Amino acid sequence: MAEKHILIVPGDGIGQEVTTAGKNVLDKIAEKFGHRFTYDAALMGHAAIEATGNPLPDETLAKMRASDAVLFGAVGHPKYDNDPTAKVRPEQGLLKMRKELGLYANLRPIKLFDDLLGASSIKPEILRGSDILFFRELTGDIYFGEKGRKDNGDTAYDLAQYSRYEVDRIARKAFDAARARKKKLCSVDKANVLETSRLWREVVQQVATEYPDIQVEHQFVDSMAMMLIKDPRRYDVVVTANLFGDILTDEASQIAGSMGMLASASIGDGTGVYEPIHGSAHDITGKGVANPLASILSAALMLEISFNLKPEAEAVVRAVDEVLKAGWRTRDIAGPDTPPEKILGTEKMGAEVLRRI
Ligand code: IPM
Ligand code: MG
Repeated sequence: MAEKHILIVPGDGIGQEVTTAGKNVLDKIAEKFGHRFTYDAALMGHAAIEATGNPLPDETLAKMRASDAVLFGAVGHPKYDNDPTAKVRPEQGLLKMRKELGLYANLRPIKLFDDLLGASSIKPEILRGSDILFFRELTGDIYFGEKGRKDNGDTAYDLAQYSRYEVDRIARKAFDAARARKKKLCSVDKANVLETSRLWREVVQQVATEYPDIQVEHQFVDSMAMMLIKDPRRYDVVVTANLFGDILTDEASQIAGSMGMLASASIGDGTGVYEPIHGSAHDITGKGVANPLASILSAALMLEISFNLKPEAEAVVRAVDEVLKAGWRTRDIAGPDTPPEKILGTEKMGAEVLRRI
């Protein structure tokens, strides 16, 4: 029996609706497999700014450190997107959390469920069998370098920076994963232009000498962006820097049919954080139509990675697969042939998964 303490951080927008579905799944697993999961909740993002003025209050951070894993929703609010001068922003909470918890490795599995072949705008014959595991570096790069304005505010800069140590540790995580999969790794950079990318490539080549059984390919990010939708099956494990990984994984979400399907795990030195890759989606907030499967699959990643409960994680993924096989869809993954009565809201979709665990 496992005893785990889980912090639920819904954040903003649809975060609340989808993390509720994720938590219900964790509860169901605890009940079925005889584990004891306890929970606490905390504020982050716009919700935390409204309550405390701070997108990541110290109390939230302390609770994160004290828990075995965090189930996270999303942060963001359109109010800030339309106001580039806002000094305090919800996303700052997310970045601070990643830095403070040392979450340097962001795993984003791009797995296409067979029954969603038709939900993507990419042709089924290109997609069938796609299964990619992205390792996005999460605490360095242009995201965290010095940024500012000069020339009376008329010039802006963001410094991209990587240390050998930072590249080495994410590379090793990706090589280890490749070893457990198809022994194929693609490292993505822009080494023809960027100095950070040249260090990146140098370090990846060095680490590769310790993994002679892994076939390594280096690819420029622009060509990767093209190949990813031209021939997604050529990729297995992919490792890349923070900004490239942010962009490529949104693109790759289309291989899985929808952003609403993609889960992620952020891991590093301490507590792991599990979250959908989608955002707060204020356009559909409160309507009860958000796809809860990304949060549910994030809960599965938590079971597998942070708690080492593999059969439990598999039970969740199998339940999701069965729900899709039975034809149930949320709006975002419904195709032109989906009968309207098969389109469910967030709660009902969550309930279909629960029934099958
Ligand atoms: C993501 C998001 C974040 C990022 C935003 C919300 C800051 O897009 O997790 O991919 O850019 O990392
Ligand atoms: Mg992103």
